[in-house]
Amino acid sequence: MLVLGIESSCDETGVALFDTERGLLGHALHSQVALHAGYGGVVPELASRDHVRKALPLLSQVLSDSGVDRRAIAGVAYTAGPGLVGALLVGASIGRSLAWSLGVPALGVHHMEGHLLAPMLETPAPGYPFVALLVSGGHTLLVQVEGVGAYRILGDTLDDAAGEAFDKTAKLLGLDYPGGPQLAKLAEQGNPTRFRFPRPMTDRPGLDFSFSGLKTFALTTSRDVGDDAQTRADIARAFEDAVVDTMVIKCRRALEQTGIGRLVVAGGVGANRALRAGLQTMARRVSAEVFYPRLEFCTDNGAMIAYAGACRLQAGQCEGLEVSVRPRWSLEELAAI
Ligand code: KG4
Ligand code: ZN
Repeated sequence: MLVLGIESSCDETGVALFDTERGLLGHALHSQVALHAGYGGVVPELASRDHVRKALPLLSQVLSDSGVDRRAIAGVAYTAGPGLVGALLVGASIGRSLAWSLGVPALGVHHMEGHLLAPMLETPAPGYPFVALLVSGGHTLLVQVEGVGAYRILGDTLDDAAGEAFDKTAKLLGLDYPGGPQLAKLAEQGNPTRFRFPRPMTDRPGLDFSFSGLKTFALTTSRDVGDDAQTRADIARAFEDAVVDTMVIKCRRALEQTGIGRLVVAGGVGANRALRAGLQTMARRVSAEVFYPRLEFCTDNGAMIAYAGACRLQAGQCEGLEVSVRPRWSLEELAAI
């Protein structure tokens, strides 16, 4: 079954074609980073308008690059939530109407299910069950995954999401939006022994996270010792080390608690090299395997939506003719297939 996937939940327009027999046939992405950079964050209305401009040209590009005639599309999947309502409505309207014009089923996909299943596009793909660490700009979740749609949330953030904490701390260190990757780069020049930030909520049982205190810690440290270039790099390093250590500790705990030997890491922060290295070392120690999507599929993309949609469309799930989105939507509400 050939499925078109459209992602438009935030500041990336992604389009992809996934075939359940032949795998990923093509994908294209347009990032809105330059559009929002001057504002220090995503401006929802500008995001929606840019999705309108880019979605159809990207679709034409993916079709022609992969040599696929649009009439071969057998189903359309679009991100229906969670995300910015206007941005979601663009992808949903285009996806739903395209499916109607082609006479094929359409399906709204949960953005985090897309992230969670993204490692399935790689070889080797993880088998079920696995524990997933989902770390993006809007979410920090530990999820027990028994199959597509069979999700149990083991841990969540009580305040800032991991990516949000990276972005906010980057901002107070004077870095441009989107700060996460820039903070990670700055941290490479930081001295790992100069400051030690706390590892929040690791001294008590449980799998929840809390990152907002680290941002405050970074702020007070820079107020106390100044903000010359080396100090900023040292603070970035201390912040990153604290976030990474905390996630490694919680992932280890989740693997031990569930008795599962497979860990999947997905979402934008999954692109962080220090996190990848830390998880790899921990997994070796506990004889677990770690699976990641390729770097470009850690952040938002159409391929993960096409894949998740294909699993569900192939199982016979689809929407009615209405265009509907869910800006707030829990993973645990999804039906298993
Ligand atoms: O999954 P994603 O592309 O979008 C959401 O669904 O939120 O994640 C974006 C988040 C941003 O907060 C960004 O700063 C963060 O992922 N991010 C990183 C890195 N690359 C992206 N954070 C830390 N280190 C990175 N290398
Ligand atoms: Zn995302």
